[in-house]
Amino acid sequence: MRNRLIVANWKLNGNWAFNEMMISELSAGLGGVQSHDHEIILCPPAIYLQQLNGLMGDIPLLLGGQDLSEHFFGAYTGEVSGQMLKELGCRYTLVGHSERRARHQESNELVALKAKAALACGLIPIICVGETLEERESGKMNAVIQRQIQSVMECLEDDISQVVIAYEPIWAIGTGLTAKVEQAQEVHEFIRGVLREYSELSAQKISVIYGGSVKAANAPILLEMPDIDGLLVGGASLLSSEFLAICLSSL
Ligand code: G3P
Repeated sequence: MRNRLIVANWKLNGNWAFNEMMISELSAGLGGVQSHDHEIILCPPAIYLQQLNGLMGDIPLLLGGQDLSEHFFGAYTGEVSGQMLKELGCRYTLVGHSERRARHQESNELVALKAKAALACGLIPIICVGETLEERESGKMNAVIQRQIQSVMECLEDDISQVVIAYEPIWAIGTGLTAKVEQAQEVHEFIRGVLREYSELSAQKISVIYGGSVKAANAPILLEMPDIDGLLVGGASLLSSEFLAICLSSL
């Protein structure tokens, strides 16, 4: 019932030559792979979306933004709107990545407005949530994650089933530390419970994906967990062979 998603977050990486090389290698490796409930999504820096959209052709890949403005147009220097992402070929966009929450002071309320703006532009928001090590160790993890999800759900009202949730424990991002599969499954199950408070159907329908030091070596075991519907991959998505192996293990 739920889509399986493998999402590459390139963060501040890529250039014209790298992008071409990645598309050519992903194209060769993904060949005729087609599955209606399985999606591979690249989220490059916004400046490269047009180039990648042109290069992708028939390859079974989709595009996503890394962020968007909560505004639709106007005097917001440096921002990219949902409509702009849509015009560049995006179907998805990340919102509320922990790097934006921490470095750009994005609050739960702002993340919720961004998710709402994404939906209004026909994009599926991938809402990132997750706890710091300190929050986990002091027993605040569930409350933090619950609040992050509630802010979005309360703002979206009738559209709640149209989103994807990405659970990324902040202490596992780029550190080489991956949550143990049982730890990840436990939080994903908790997230599904939070969603159930809004609607049983939405809880069944919303894909909840895991991110944080995902590699080819740990992808298969994470994907075996009943509540892990996909993966959000940072560093390993910049290595074509590694990312391909992750994509293929998810089929
Ligand atoms: O959004 C992906 C992410 O933050 C995880 O990064 O490098 O730990 O896979 P990484």
